[in-house]
Amino acid sequence: MNELLRRLLFLPDQASTFARDIDQLHYFVIVTTFVMSTAVGLTTLFFFVRYRRRSETQTTPHIEPTWWMELGFIGTPLFFFMLWFFLGFREFVRQQTPPSDAIDVYVMAKKWMWKFAYPDGPNAINVLRVPAGRNVRLLMTSRDVIHSFYVPEFRIKQDVLPGRYTQTWFNAVQPGRYQILCAEYCGAGHSIMRGEVIALKPQEFEDWLSQQRRGLVARQDSSPTGLDFAPALGNLVDQGRRIAAEQGCLKCHTTDGTRHIGPTWLDLYHRREKLQDGSIIDADEAYLTESMMEPTAKIVAGFQPVMPSFQGKIAGPEVAALVEYIKSLQSDVVRTGPSEGPAYAPIRGR
Ligand code: CUA
Repeated sequence: MNELLRRLLFLPDQASTFARDIDQLHYFVIVTTFVMSTAVGLTTLFFFVRYRRRSETQTTPHIEPTWWMELGFIGTPLFFFMLWFFLGFREFVRQQTPPSDAIDVYVMAKKWMWKFAYPDGPNAINVLRVPAGRNVRLLMTSRDVIHSFYVPEFRIKQDVLPGRYTQTWFNAVQPGRYQILCAEYCGAGHSIMRGEVIALKPQEFEDWLSQQRRGLVARQDSSPTGLDFAPALGNLVDQGRRIAAEQGCLKCHTTDGTRHIGPTWLDLYHRREKLQDGSIIDADEAYLTESMMEPTAKIVAGFQPVMPSFQGKIAGPEVAALVEYIKSLQSDVVRTGPSEGPAYAPIRGR
């Protein structure tokens, strides 16, 4: 019955612990209103025929309904509306109250992408990996305008607002891939602001998490400067991010794949860039460092040689931090191979 109605109403799969209950309320409301409006319509038709005017002089008799009829007409709809209200309210409260054992993921929405960050761990763009069968709480905020986090298969939808945190939670009942949509019109790219939830088996998720954490450490250990950095996780990357802001790098280079005055830093590390003379280079540590010190030496095709040299302005450790920061800017697509679902496609150097 559940499956038949779900298909009749073109509803997506029920992939969270909420989905079935919400659908059942939906069926209840829709079946009741469907039956009642059909009954009203048929009664009207019947009365049309049965009580049609039979002569020119006929007048309509005045009918006094009895008190129990009045009570029925008012009480029956009221009963159903109140019942739906209480069922809906109970479900609403459940969705608004994340369980205390939930794992947290931070969500940052911006035009037009979703960024996910795990506490003291990795982050990802447009791909949210979660363990199936676990409660997951999302703490969400926006960097620009109002967006809305919507996963149809989970039956969750929550506005994401700039300047404040909103939260929602879910429990994916089985491993799979589920579409994330933005459900609040947020500008020209609204319709492409999509991502996906990948629910993994709990062990697969743990493996992925530890692999990501090892990756973060490894990227720091291979620091090209040979300096003895023993920083907390992500420290060098944080330094690089700060230096990039201080030195004005981010005025020309974006970190989200958008084309600007200079090539984007997203997925720049080991990107194969075509230069103005037609040759192809690998954007490794050496190239990145050279480009800071002698920016006009190897200009990427399609860009102007407008970058000033940072020779003497930034020292070795700062260059290393910047390089590490650039290396950390990997979209999920590159890190783990192409995604089957709708995913963010990084803009490649042209
Ligand atoms: Cu973000 Cu619509």
